[in-house]
Amino acid sequence: MKIVTCVAPVNIAVIKYWGKRDDKLILPLNDSVSTTLSTEHLCAKTTIMISSEFQSDRLWLNGREENCENPRIQNCLREVRKRAAKSGNNENMSAWNVHICSENNFPTAAGLASSAAGYACLVYALSRIYEIDGDISAIARQGSGSACRSVLGGFVQWNKGDQDDGSDSLATQLAPANHWPEMRILILVVHEKHKKISSKIGMEQSVKTSELLKYRVSHCVPQRIQDIKQAILNKDFERFAEITMKDSNQFHAVCLDTFPPAVYMNDVSHAIVNFVHCYNKLKGHNALAYTFDAGPNACLYMKEHDVPKVLGLLSVIFPFPGEEDSYIKGIPINKDTIPQEMQAAFGMEQQMEGSLKYIIHTRLGNGPKELKSQNEHLLTESGVPKNLVV
Ligand code: DP6
Repeated sequence: MKIVTCVAPVNIAVIKYWGKRDDKLILPLNDSVSTTLSTEHLCAKTTIMISSEFQSDRLWLNGREENCENPRIQNCLREVRKRAAKSGNNENMSAWNVHICSENNFPTAAGLASSAAGYACLVYALSRIYEIDGDISAIARQGSGSACRSVLGGFVQWNKGDQDDGSDSLATQLAPANHWPEMRILILVVHEKHKKISSKIGMEQSVKTSELLKYRVSHCVPQRIQDIKQAILNKDFERFAEITMKDSNQFHAVCLDTFPPAVYMNDVSHAIVNFVHCYNKLKGHNALAYTFDAGPNACLYMKEHDVPKVLGLLSVIFPFPGEEDSYIKGIPINKDTIPQEMQAAFGMEQQMEGSLKYIIHTRLGNGPKELKSQNEHLLTESGVPKNLVV
């Protein structure tokens, strides 16, 4: 029997991956760039146990048993076992069955992308248990494309690669988290009313129907990748902010150019966009940036010294009905009190109370890690979850 427990981070793309050139191997049409968030506030945690006594592979997600036959899970298991067998490590162990138990440290109901952290954690934990070294991003990619970026910390690029077998479609680190320590992130969790179209389905439809996607891939993304890499390496926030916002806007324009359209942002999301542009106008430069994935939640980037003012203004424009500390989670911080004159000069009307569920204040962070303490395991010694939802 062998057991390991690991945590893996969420990542947020600033140059979006949207569209596959190979659906089975999960190979993208374009390169993407992301930031890895700290696991202190958002992460997936996974325990994996292998034993000669287990009758079958089993999987529990957030306390409920799920189908382990899911092809994306099976792809990851198969690839890891193949690598383990090739390296000659633990030869007999690669035939043993596995029990997997995974949880997120943030509510799934928040609608935050959890599959990237989940698959990165699964693959990282498997790599520890089977003692595999070297790149694991190509394995995580076969669980969910964006998961390949969560196996590394800081600023990460997923190179689309050109090979048909995907051997060069890998993630690489552009800069570690401590390269830009002043960078802060606010996740704005928005109330969601509509059932969302999954990224998988949305991007399949875009590849089939969007002319704009073709233009984006050939004419826009390559230059943006070069520019944002420079902005990151030079710690040029203005440039980073502008490219990030433009790429988010173009990605959602592609979604609207898809037929039938994939609508991910809602009225609150658009109010957040307006908020950011009002803030930047007030400051006279791009001090705040937004990006939106396949859902209405926003991810805002700013430097540390802007956080109290941004939070102060957010509380005025997006008033919260309940207790303050259930509104702003994550890194503790005192928000600014906004004087009447600033509120008036801001140029935006107050939104309906409760249009934001809550805000998570976080920073950049490192890639996955193993938790060595026995207390961290999510499975008991006999391989069943300690916390089952009944
Ligand atoms: C909008 O990685 O969830 O978040 O590869 O089908 O699992 P699959 O899709 P997924 O797509 C993420 C899309 C995105 C942009 C991004 O993270 O780059």
